Amino acid sequence: YDSQGNFKQTHCMLRDITDARKVEMQERELDDKIQHAQKLESLGVLAGGIAHDFNNLLQVMTGSLTMAAREIPKDAPVNRRIDAAMRAVERGASLSSQLLAFSRRQPLQPRSIDLCDLLTDIDDIIRSALGEGMEVELDAVEALWPAYVDAASTQNAVLNLLINARDAMEGRGKLKIAIANRHFGPEDLLGEPDMVTGDYVEVKVIDNGPGIPAETLPKVFDPFFTTKPVGKGTGLGLSTVYGFARQSGGRVTINSRPGVGTSVVLLLPRAQSAAEPVRWHDPSDIAGGTETVLLVEDDAEVRDATAALLSDLGYQVRTAEDPTAALKTARQDPEFDLLVSDVVMPGELSSRDMAETLQAERPDLPILFISGYSRDSIVRDGKVDAGVQFLAKPFTKDALAIKVRDALSSVQATAPEQAEDISDRPCHVLLCEDDALIRLDLADILDGLGTEVTETASGQETLDKLQTGHYDALLIDVGLPDMSGEEVATRVRQQHPNMPIIFATGQANVPAAETLGHCAVVQKPFGDRDLARALARLGILSHADAASGF
Ligand SMILES: Nc1ncnc2c1ncn2[C@@H]1O[C@H](COP(=O)(O)OP(=O)(O)OP(=O)(O)O)[C@@H](O)[C@H]1O
Ligand SMILES: [Mg+2]
Repeated sequence: YDSQGNFKQTHCMLRDITDARKVEMQERELDDKIQHAQKLESLGVLAGGIAHDFNNLLQVMTGSLTMAAREIPKDAPVNRRIDAAMRAVERGASLSSQLLAFSRRQPLQPRSIDLCDLLTDIDDIIRSALGEGMEVELDAVEALWPAYVDAASTQNAVLNLLINARDAMEGRGKLKIAIANRHFGPEDLLGEPDMVTGDYVEVKVIDNGPGIPAETLPKVFDPFFTTKPVGKGTGLGLSTVYGFARQSGGRVTINSRPGVGTSVVLLLPRAQSAAEPVRWHDPSDIAGGTETVLLVEDDAEVRDATAALLSDLGYQVRTAEDPTAALKTARQDPEFDLLVSDVVMPGELSSRDMAETLQAERPDLPILFISGYSRDSIVRDGKVDAGVQFLAKPFTKDALAIKVRDALSSVQATAPEQAEDISDRPCHVLLCEDDALIRLDLADILDGLGTEVTETASGQETLDKLQTGHYDALLIDVGLPDMSGEEVATRVRQQHPNMPIIFATGQANVPAAETLGHCAVVQKPFGDRDLARALARLGILSHADAASGF
């Protein structure tokens, strides 16, 4: 207004807040994502705990029911009751294995697998699971990368997705499975703290069902969330897929447009080695034997039930109630062929230490661990150490029979080779250290210990060397110029599941040493003896050699 009070002009200020809003929205999305992940995390802890205790109870029931059935004449009416109880145990077992899968604690045995072959392999299972009204199109890219996954769990996950799609389409229509190679850089993985950049194999299940309403979408991975009528769905399908994907080092995401359809994307890590053929057990594999088994289990009922199953299969059984007692009986009479042991037991000596002690005395001794819980010292990061057999509770007699035979025959198959390894040629260590002086020093020490040494100065050089040469062990610095020693080791482990790896580090801890299994850490500064001890611990040198080296 001017001095007379007449209107003159308006001042107007405009500020473009689009960018600020975008950032705000992105932050909110990220927050939601993190909160969602945290919620699933704590639910997982709870679910895993329950499943563990539940499995021990079920184990006692399976064993007792199997033995009860044997003591009763086949035509006795009470057999029907036993059958019904057995079926209930089976349902309980499948429920608890789903809970373990969700809590990322199911024992996985990943190997390099061609996912297209894997799914083609179970074509008939898919067809009968989906019913006649469904058509499935499997579409895989040429030169598909192999994935590093557990075969049975992968199939189970994909079946879950297919059955969800079928249910959404009410049993009629066409759905598609598309398998492709994917590379992820850092910008693709924003808000995915657990994923590493790199190569993945993607399995996408696409349906054109009714889709999922926006308000339901955030809940679909929650355990027991279902929109299906009582008795139709447990709501554990997607939860197990979620746990499986994350435990395998991948992820699962779901996109849905109401009225258009749903696609679920399962990302699984790429394997570094060529795909191996998948081996399934057929019923003729179920055989007993006459070897002697040392069974270590603290729970008297589980012990009796398992011992009874083993004797029933023809084995001679000796039992011990804890690791200390097991060592004692093993030393009194070393004539046994297999150690079968529970993982978590009371007492000062852990079952892992007991097993290591026994294996140090008898390197060819096969070991089968049994547990209701995979997150024990035997299973690191949900993966069973190479060379160790693992059986999850509750198990059936057939499952026990297969694992026991597997464990016994794995040694028969590998023992002569190992013997030759030790006697015929010196152990060959690949040494990776970027500091030339330290490398020289370490090569000297290794030389003094009677090993052959090949030196490298970077992560890439190490990986290249491993592609072409044969080495018995890797000694690697954690801080390397091109990539961390842990990353190198992780890649090496995928191709060489049994290779002993020693990390040399100045860091307080090396997480990869825990998760990869068959690793040792020597803290800088370390001396000759420290290195010798680490080599001995991993079975590269005998304890005597390590001690006499100096
Ligand atoms: N392809 C899909 N289309 C539409 N809705 C889906 C789809 N997949 C999952 N859902 C929704 O997510 C819910 C949870 O799925 P989830 O597989 O976890 O459990 P469920 O299928 O209900 O039961 P279960 O798998 O244990 O038999 C389903 O009940 C359904 O509402
Ligand atoms: Mg389902």
